[in-house]
Amino acid sequence: MDAQQIRAAYLAMMAERGHTIIDRASLVPHDDPTTLFTGSGMQPLLRFLLGETHPAGNRLADVQPCVRAQDIEEVGDNRHTTFFEMLGNWSLGDYFKAEQIPMFWSFLVDVVGLDPNRIYVSVFSGDAEHGIPRDEESADIWTDLFQKAGVSADRVDLITEEHGNDVGNQGARIAFYQDKNWWSRAGGPNEMPVGDPGGPDSEVFYYFPQVVHDTAYGRFPHQNSDGGQYLEIGNSVFMQYRRAAGDDGAGFAELPHRNVDYGGGLERIAAAAIDSPDVFRVSLLWPIIEKLQGLSGKSYDDETHAMRIVTDHVRGAVFLAADGVSPSNREAGYVMRRLLRRAIRFATELGVENNVLAPLVDVVADIYADSYPEVGEKRETIVKVLQKEERAFRRTLNKGLRELRHIAKENRPITGDDFFTLSDTFGFPVELSTEEAQRQGLVLSTDWRAEFDDRREEQRRRSQAATKLGAHE
Ligand code: SER
Repeated sequence: MDAQQIRAAYLAMMAERGHTIIDRASLVPHDDPTTLFTGSGMQPLLRFLLGETHPAGNRLADVQPCVRAQDIEEVGDNRHTTFFEMLGNWSLGDYFKAEQIPMFWSFLVDVVGLDPNRIYVSVFSGDAEHGIPRDEESADIWTDLFQKAGVSADRVDLITEEHGNDVGNQGARIAFYQDKNWWSRAGGPNEMPVGDPGGPDSEVFYYFPQVVHDTAYGRFPHQNSDGGQYLEIGNSVFMQYRRAAGDDGAGFAELPHRNVDYGGGLERIAAAAIDSPDVFRVSLLWPIIEKLQGLSGKSYDDETHAMRIVTDHVRGAVFLAADGVSPSNREAGYVMRRLLRRAIRFATELGVENNVLAPLVDVVADIYADSYPEVGEKRETIVKVLQKEERAFRRTLNKGLRELRHIAKENRPITGDDFFTLSDTFGFPVELSTEEAQRQGLVLSTDWRAEFDDRREEQRRRSQAATKLGAHE
């Protein structure tokens, strides 16, 4: 199955199992000031997880495009992308562990056709401090499923990622962790604002024996190592609790009902389906890489890192543009600008000195037009928005890079003033110029950030004063 088929099969299975398929939400939430982007399928459903009745019922499913801007600099490895599609299903006080876990298993094994021998899972080890019990129930359900498939079902207590890195999973299918198996929007129990929902989760990983374990990620591999041998392909959150204001603010209370919040990365499931630890090989991304190989005359094998960055960032920007965002110096627009300028920077490194975005937008629009008609329909506008940004940045990109090389030759640390000039005069988002400076081996002055912020603030005040003066004239 390719990614498009997996997406369709998932929705069909969920509908067959009594779920209402709901519309996806915008990438930029309009009623949630706490976040710039929709970063998971549950985000638009928050108030229903907290107890409000959903008009479409208590079994819901969708495929939600997500942006995780915090991952921008992680892009380049085999599995991180800033944009991805999340398959999601929810039980709002309806089914719980005993239905969710076998349903997801059946999707992976019977529908997608994954090899049960390569499926590994994690479950919650319990949290004494907050009075949340160990999740034996999920572990027992998994044991049953593995045994029926004729697969070993050993358990191991790893508790922390660090401990896992020291001892490895020793081949155990079911690993117990604490922090790694707690999910809330904010992170761990202590990070959650009062009122926020969360709960233990159970994650599923697909094992790629062809990835050689790198001891830079710990002595031994296990479900939660960062080496890419175990790829997380889905997460069932048993959203049962909310943070309550206890005496010490550490209390947890039960939600009005027990929910399931399942999310799984489409691209990653599709990668498992083609036995590729590299998500860029899936049918939603590979055509973009192929186009880039054509434009640059270089091969993905030689230029893996740069091609992944360009591919991911352009795809993300296309979806942001489809949802009405345009590059700017603020909020979502700024993230879009960072994506595009970083993509252009890396395209330049690949030797594509001009007009890289428009041809790639076409490829992205072709891939997604069937499933997301808005992307196809807005193709012309998206091309225009992205081209405009490319033209603007191309005018100063080479001068900015020259400026950086010049500083490198002077053999001095790069300062906040330099970063301000790079941003203000040469259009380099500060994150891009720090990355660039580090690539060139430059030392950053200790107070560069404060100096940069001061310069920017000073400029903001000046331009405000200028606007006021202008108004009086
Ligand atoms: N909310 C969970 C996640 O993002 C599952 O949907 O992983």
